Amino acid sequence: MARILICDDQDIIRDSLAATLARDGYDVVAATDGPMALQRIAAGKVDLLITDLKMPKMTGIELLTEAKKIRPELPVVLMTAFATVQTAVEAMRLGAYDYIQKPFEADEIKLLVARTLEHSQLKQENAALRSVVAETQGPRPLVGDCEQMRAVKKKIELVGKSSVTVLIRGESGTGKEVVARAVHAASERRDRPMLAVNCAALSEHLLESELFGHEKGAFTGADKLRRGRFELADGGTLLLDEISEIAPGLQAKLLRVLQESCFERVGSSTTQMVDVRVVATTNRDLESEVAAGRFRQDLFYRLNVIPIDLPALRERPEDINELVRHFLHKIAKRDQAAYKHVEPEAIRLLERYPWPGNVRELQNIIERAVILETDPGVIRAETIAPWLRMPMQNTIAGASDLAGQPLADIEKQVIISTLERFNGHRVKTATSLGIGLRTLGMKLKKWKQDGIYEEIGA
Ligand SMILES: Nc1ncnc2c1ncn2[C@@H]1O[C@H](COP(=O)(O)OP(=O)(O)OP(=O)(O)O)[C@@H](O)[C@H]1O
Ligand SMILES: [Mg+2]
Repeated sequence: MARILICDDQDIIRDSLAATLARDGYDVVAATDGPMALQRIAAGKVDLLITDLKMPKMTGIELLTEAKKIRPELPVVLMTAFATVQTAVEAMRLGAYDYIQKPFEADEIKLLVARTLEHSQLKQENAALRSVVAETQGPRPLVGDCEQMRAVKKKIELVGKSSVTVLIRGESGTGKEVVARAVHAASERRDRPMLAVNCAALSEHLLESELFGHEKGAFTGADKLRRGRFELADGGTLLLDEISEIAPGLQAKLLRVLQESCFERVGSSTTQMVDVRVVATTNRDLESEVAAGRFRQDLFYRLNVIPIDLPALRERPEDINELVRHFLHKIAKRDQAAYKHVEPEAIRLLERYPWPGNVRELQNIIERAVILETDPGVIRAETIAPWLRMPMQNTIAGASDLAGQPLADIEKQVIISTLERFNGHRVKTATSLGIGLRTLGMKLKKWKQDGIYEEIGA
């Protein structure tokens, strides 16, 4: 409940105004002069100050100036007689929100109070959102210099200048959000808010009101007006995470706002225009979602104007070293600790690992290594090696079926099927199995002599 402070030396006006607003459900407190009002403001929560202009001890203008020193964001409304309208205009220049001329009707002041409070709340919400965005945004460099990442960076630069919709595709943890923020930062909207909604996290109903907002009373539980993300991101960028998860009914509404830049709050018939750049992400293949009838084709085309594809980390082992250093620097800075190096053997291990969780998983492993490494200056291969075996256990489908078979046979099966996967490419096979090229060569030679193996591929 909003608390309103009324300051007036005339008892009749002060008390009747207090009664009017209290009847409307506001929490009303009163002061008879400026110093008393200031004390109340300093003492705690006041959401709105309504003050008379002409008062003994301290004028309304002086009170306004002093109140703003204590609480710059406090909205102030001045009450004034006709003769002093000029002063009231001056007061608005000093930061008053509005003024009202005495005498006034109850409805008039109620409307003004409601409008002022709503506006002030919106301003605070926006400030809060902006600070959250600034926080999460920060300088988040996009690390990686492999060919695919260079292409990604080039694209970000190109799309930055326009407001076209961007669709970022890639496995989980590949950096889709980092790229989305980079798109925003590269655009002329960079000083405007960037908001994000995860389409997979909410039910259709909640997502609709999250995106478009709702009117007070639009449905049970909608006890106050709520602005949606499209409205709040006006002029900025909206990140729609996991867009494939958006329900069919909402897909149509999303298409409309993308095409016509307009929407209605849930429960409202007033159409609002917005200027929002949408960046969507998906880790699913949207084309097959379209083919399966789960995703609207027209929406897909509208989103897919500029696709940016992020490579999986296992496809770019050449970036591992730089990423590791990047994370180590970040950790050292955050913990105000000395920078730890990673021994070359450990880097080789990291380069060989298939990274099902991509960059996020790498970041976690580095975090863990920094904490658990007992060596003061270097992260050793033997420290991280045990953590990199997990997916091997996962990917050996039917490992339990192999139980009880001679290891030599298992080894043969694994090596040969790995060779098949890499089309006979021995270097890739040896690297992926973590054995030397010569060892592989010797084994193959022996199996060939035994007639177990025939050369495959090139
Ligand atoms: N190229 C990169 N440079 C620096 N950090 C990165 C890079 N890619 C990813 N990261 C880091 O890895 C983590 C995961 O990245 P992000 O959240 O962008 O992935 P995502 O693709 O959105 O994943 P999900 O599909 O699970 O939402 C983040 O902490 C991010 O900072
Ligand atoms: Mg993400």
